[in-house]
Amino acid sequence: MTPEIKVLPDSAALNLAAAQAFQTAAEQAIAQRGRFSVALSGGNTPRSVYSLLAQQYKTSLPWDKVHVFFGDERCVPPDHPDSNYRMANEALLSHVPIPPENVHRIRAELDPEAAAKDYESQLRSFFQLANNSWPCFDLIMLGLGQDGHTASLFPGSSALDEKSRLVAPTWVEKKRTFRITLTYPVLNHAAEVEFLVSGSGKAQILRDVLNPSGSVAFPAQLIKPVNGRVQWLLDQDAANLLH
Ligand code: 6PG
Repeated sequence: MTPEIKVLPDSAALNLAAAQAFQTAAEQAIAQRGRFSVALSGGNTPRSVYSLLAQQYKTSLPWDKVHVFFGDERCVPPDHPDSNYRMANEALLSHVPIPPENVHRIRAELDPEAAAKDYESQLRSFFQLANNSWPCFDLIMLGLGQDGHTASLFPGSSALDEKSRLVAPTWVEKKRTFRITLTYPVLNHAAEVEFLVSGSGKAQILRDVLNPSGSVAFPAQLIKPVNGRVQWLLDQDAANLLH
């Protein structure tokens, strides 16, 4: 399916569009299946979207039917400044009436292999998966790194080759640290993947990812949901080099 690209004039409009997309996806999933499964992205970009969700949809979304997962996590405790869980909890989860059991945290304080196994078993249990089937998230939110990584699928990392596990521990050389990440099969079985990219610092990598020229594929270019849609929500600064 051809990716949909939406360019918003500035980051405030981008945040609003992302919050509205979250609400739409949630309402559709809940209407159809009685629940909404979403994997949040980490990093800095989505923080303001999460805050906006908490401000604007605290009472208008049925949070008891929302199940929050994470696309990836740094191998740190949940209260560590680098924790994606901590960021989402501070910006969103602690401000909305989501039942604690609906927040499916990657227990990245464990050793990487144990954390990956634990999160995989959480996924298998929630989605009631048979051995060789994949979870279908209603929405997976992703960011884009300046090196073309997404989630914790970094160029040259071992997780890029993982085709059978749902969750992989992966050493990230440039960060000199382990990360835990959803794998391509899971990301590519989502009903909807939404990239959120903001700021002029992402303009070059965004152009390279959306207008592939060389033979090298950036990790983000391999996000191609088999039965889902991909939406790129961009602000003008990030989209500046796109023709
Ligand atoms: C993470 C994210 C990562 C992030 C990009 C963009 O754990 O950091 O999963 O993939 O989305 O690195 O990060 P920024 O939004 O901070 O630019």
